[in-house]
Amino acid sequence: MRILTGIQPSGVPHLGNYFGAMRQVCDLQEKGESFLFIADYHALTTNPEPEQLRERILNLTLDFLACGVDTEKTVFFRQSAVPEVCELMWILNTVTPLGFLERAHSYKDKIAKGFLPNNGLFSYPVLMAADILLYNANLVPVGKDQKQHLEITRDLAIKFNNEYGEIFTIPDGYIPDQVAIVPGLDGQKMSKSYNNTIPIFGKEKALRKTVMSIVTDCKGLEEPKDPESCNVVALYKLFASETELNAMKEKYRAGNYGYGHAKQELFEKMWEFFAPMRTRRAELEANLDFVEELLRKNGEKARAAASITLDKVRSAVGLK
Ligand code: ADP
Ligand code: TRP
Repeated sequence: MRILTGIQPSGVPHLGNYFGAMRQVCDLQEKGESFLFIADYHALTTNPEPEQLRERILNLTLDFLACGVDTEKTVFFRQSAVPEVCELMWILNTVTPLGFLERAHSYKDKIAKGFLPNNGLFSYPVLMAADILLYNANLVPVGKDQKQHLEITRDLAIKFNNEYGEIFTIPDGYIPDQVAIVPGLDGQKMSKSYNNTIPIFGKEKALRKTVMSIVTDCKGLEEPKDPESCNVVALYKLFASETELNAMKEKYRAGNYGYGHAKQELFEKMWEFFAPMRTRRAELEANLDFVEELLRKNGEKARAAASITLDKVRSAVGLK
């Protein structure tokens, strides 16, 4: 089984990204042959500053390697290391009904947010289909927001196969339901777009300050508090053992335990949880040549896999 997913370099990863996506990707490495790439071509659709894009690609690479992507098991590469994906996209474009793209809500959402309606944004799902079909992926782990893109991918693969013969593997999405939504500082879903995130990496002082800014009600120190409705407890749960969690809940109910105390405990747990990853990240950051070389080698592996599919596609459509 081949598992594949891509991630956009869209900013500093937070607890929601880690528990909702990064950890899943790392766990899936044990289940089959994995392909994981940084979707840098996709990132261009919102026209980032070049320097900022470069920085984000590098940071996301370091984040994933630090969080447990194992390059012995996973082909971890940059999308743009395999420009063949653009050729496949072009060929898929010629079998893509405009209606598929006009219906895509991610396009409408982006326009509503004020992004320029460029053709890259519009045909984003075709590039994503090319990403998946180029590597014959069977399973594609994604967040719920990507469900429609996966359906478009499947439809395009079926349409192409009907027209030109059985070339593409029809992929299945993997959208784990059990992943709880991680709440942000204000209790809404943690998201970069809501400005309510707790980054997984960062300087101790700044991170502590962020944790201390989690919104709670304004019960005084002595008053008993409700652990079930408290954001701090919901976040503590991500890191604590059953016993530790119950101990905190007890203290909430007993009173004489302030939100400030709970936040300190949360911070300590979180800091400890990410400690090995922080160390690994710092090592990698001090060794960027090694990281570059790793990505380059992985890019070559991906390219070799891609060229097999692309050869078949070229022959099928009459380019060869
Ligand atoms: P953001 O909302 O911060 O822009 P993305 O949309 O880039 O995050 O999400 C990247 C991945 O992280 C997706 O798979 C998404 O499902 C997951 N994810 C993001 N926020 C959360 C959250 N608060 N709880 C659980 N998973 C999340
Ligand atoms: N569109 C995905 C997102 O924004 C990223 C992505 C690009 C992707 N190509 C992919 C995900 C291929 C899975 C498979 O999250």
